[in-house]
Amino acid sequence: MIDWSSFAYLAAAVLFILGIKGLGSAKTAGTGNVLAATGMLLAIVATLYLTRVVQLELILGGIVIGALIGSLLAKKIEMTAMPEMVALLNGFGGAASALVGISEYLSRQGETTGGMVSIAIVLSLLIGSLTFTGSLIAFGKLQGLLSSQPVTYPAQQVVNALILSAGLGLGVLLATSPFSELYLVLLLSVALLLGILAVLPIGGGDMPVVISLLNSYSGLAACATGFVLGNAGLVISGSLVGASGLILTKQMCEGMNRSLLNVLFSAFGKHVESKGADTANKTARSFTPEDAAIIFSNAETCVMVPGYGLAVAQAQHAAQELATVLEERGVKVSYAIHPVAGRMPGHMNVLLAEANVPYEQLVEMDDINPEFPETDVALVIGANDVVNPSARTDEDSPIYGMPLLDVDFARNVFVIKRSMNPGFAGVQNPLFFNENTMMIFGDAKNVLLELVTSIKES
Ligand code: TAP
Repeated sequence: MIDWSSFAYLAAAVLFILGIKGLGSAKTAGTGNVLAATGMLLAIVATLYLTRVVQLELILGGIVIGALIGSLLAKKIEMTAMPEMVALLNGFGGAASALVGISEYLSRQGETTGGMVSIAIVLSLLIGSLTFTGSLIAFGKLQGLLSSQPVTYPAQQVVNALILSAGLGLGVLLATSPFSELYLVLLLSVALLLGILAVLPIGGGDMPVVISLLNSYSGLAACATGFVLGNAGLVISGSLVGASGLILTKQMCEGMNRSLLNVLFSAFGKHVESKGADTANKTARSFTPEDAAIIFSNAETCVMVPGYGLAVAQAQHAAQELATVLEERGVKVSYAIHPVAGRMPGHMNVLLAEANVPYEQLVEMDDINPEFPETDVALVIGANDVVNPSARTDEDSPIYGMPLLDVDFARNVFVIKRSMNPGFAGVQNPLFFNENTMMIFGDAKNVLLELVTSIKES
């Protein structure tokens, strides 16, 4: 007899892989999303109709309620709050795996232990539970419910290592001993505690990396649950989430020139203010949008450099409006995209795509950097760390070695931000004090709109 469910899971897996490939570029991301969602629908239908499901009404009810909440959240959530939303979704994924693990363990009372399934149940419980609490802490830090400062205490890493060892030991006991509710409760408690204690020492700014890592964990937990349930679809989709989350985590660390160990264990963001460029005796020059319009009137090329501040100000439409006005005056406009500008992967691409900026104008860091010396105006919009030349020149800087957009090589540099406050890394930026740099203080959206008016009037 043909095993239709395996066939459907295989087709779903192909769609997932094509979907992830599509997400690799802004141009194909929409199609990628649709392909992956179709794959998921196929996997759900296959599970419901081709495998024996008890209480179909309950499952369908769950799907309807879940889909409603999901669509509402997706519509309502601001782009800047996306990491929080992903954190919650990861947490729910981890909790789901842990719950399946509990239910399967309880239903297997009296059966022989020690096999593959026992190991898979332990992994579902351990990884699922720590992903759940870790994600809740990450959510709390990003949402401002908890302090975003790293929470540290003496011998913290030793304590965490001991708790992890206890979790692993209990896992071995649970997988090899006869049924024991005590071991189950202990393992769950230790795993839940580990999730909390592992994320608390990490600063709020590093949460996107942690969330990406927890996303990978939620995939691994789902994969283990797939082995518990003997469900090939869950094994494949869980492994895909696990692997892609890990690759994304690695790319984010590379974009910041930091190792994953540094992100997880260095409590970054706690003491950074003591280091950084010496700018004590220097003054930054403040310009008005009207002054800037005069310089723009002589420009032939302009590279816009969006950063986190553009996202905060929701200034993507105003940036696009300015680009249109400049192009009407014969200026060649492009956008420089740094891999970790903003607070999540692809943050700038998504925002600019929302404002219908043509994909061809979005230029990756390595391609745009050689063009800065020939650029008349580099317009930095709410970016800071990603344009900080200390990353190239100051070995003592915490961001030394971080890949950098070389805006300081442009003929004129405008920086739009509200104050002289530092960015995410907490270090001052010598770019602001360069002779060719002009600061335009104010909210990014307002300044850009004022620039549009001034250029039109000039
Ligand atoms: P930041 O270095 O965080 O600088 C953003 C700047 O925007 C701030 O200096 C702030 O200055 C300004 N700003 C805030 N609100 C504004 C508003 N309404 N209008 C105008 N300006 C505003 O941003 P970046 O250059 O994009 O660098 C990203 C940082 O995040 C990097 O350090 C990176 O390592 C880190 N990070 C990124 C990711 C990913 S994957 N993207 C993940 C983890 C960490 P004022 O307060 O003076 O306005």
